[in-house]
Amino acid sequence: MYICPVCKDKLNRIDNSWRCPKGHSFDIARKGYVNLLTTAKHNPKTAGDNADMVKARTEFLDKGYYSPLAEKIRGVAEENLADTKSPVIIDSGCGEGFYTAELAQIENAGIYGIDISKHAVAHCMTRVHLAGIKNCNFAVASSFELPFADNCADAVVSVFAPVCNDEYARVLKKQGKLIVVSPSPRHLFELKAAVYDNPYENKPNVYGLDKFGESPEEIVFEYKAKLTSQADIHSLFMMTPYCYKTSEEGMARLRALDSIEVTCGFVIQVYSKK
Ligand SMILES: C[S@@+](CC[C@H](N)C(=O)[O-])C[C@H]1O[C@@H](n2cnc3c(N)ncnc32)[C@H](O)[C@@H]1O
Ligand SMILES: [Zn+2]
Repeated sequence: MYICPVCKDKLNRIDNSWRCPKGHSFDIARKGYVNLLTTAKHNPKTAGDNADMVKARTEFLDKGYYSPLAEKIRGVAEENLADTKSPVIIDSGCGEGFYTAELAQIENAGIYGIDISKHAVAHCMTRVHLAGIKNCNFAVASSFELPFADNCADAVVSVFAPVCNDEYARVLKKQGKLIVVSPSPRHLFELKAAVYDNPYENKPNVYGLDKFGESPEEIVFEYKAKLTSQADIHSLFMMTPYCYKTSEEGMARLRALDSIEVTCGFVIQVYSKK
């Protein structure tokens, strides 16, 4: 399944490392993941979400506000993999493993999560250890240079993460499924209305996935969630891209909120490899 990030040959597990026939070797960290991010292109210390961002996301997700989404994604994957006996599923940009752990419940599935953030991947290992999940493997790697062999996966899942047409097409088997999850236009609209004078709806994401069938199946999944603490509202806001571009006045309005009902809105697109 794993390939060498340097020469692209197959990696074999030998004791506590993954090695290719040419002798490139990648140690398995104490927590159980492997770092396959080449330092030539990325600084593994700083790539992707930092430790604070991972912690904030974990704290929010563990409250369960997005559990209906996790269950929905698993259901969509299960439906699309109904004819596959032991599906291999890649969670690309898996973050701290919230959706990955849910995907692991699919019968006989082998799950491979990758994220460019070492902090996120380390947390994935903690999550699966605590939950006693055995069928998940994690690596630090980029979605734009996946450490997986050609045609090895039955499905790639990408939840609020960067999407790579070429790499997803390369690693998927023929007719393999690509499940892309993004915010719907109404996602968190009420939160934006509380903070901004002129809130706007999210624009649909355009991915240019020309290696996949023209029109994906598209599911809009929306529900309301009531946030009843300042801390949860703050954590949710800090998970959004708005946290970077909000004025001090907007942040003061956010801090004044101690409860709010928001629309959690998502678009789940299912593509098939041509
Ligand atoms: C918004 S988070 C979503 C994480 C997770 N899928 C979730 O929904 O909880 C985006 C994730 O993409 C990761 N990321 C950013 N650039 C990446 C890349 N080139 N390859 C892989 N992951 C990347 C970040 O480290 C972060 O964990
Ligand atoms: Zn190699």
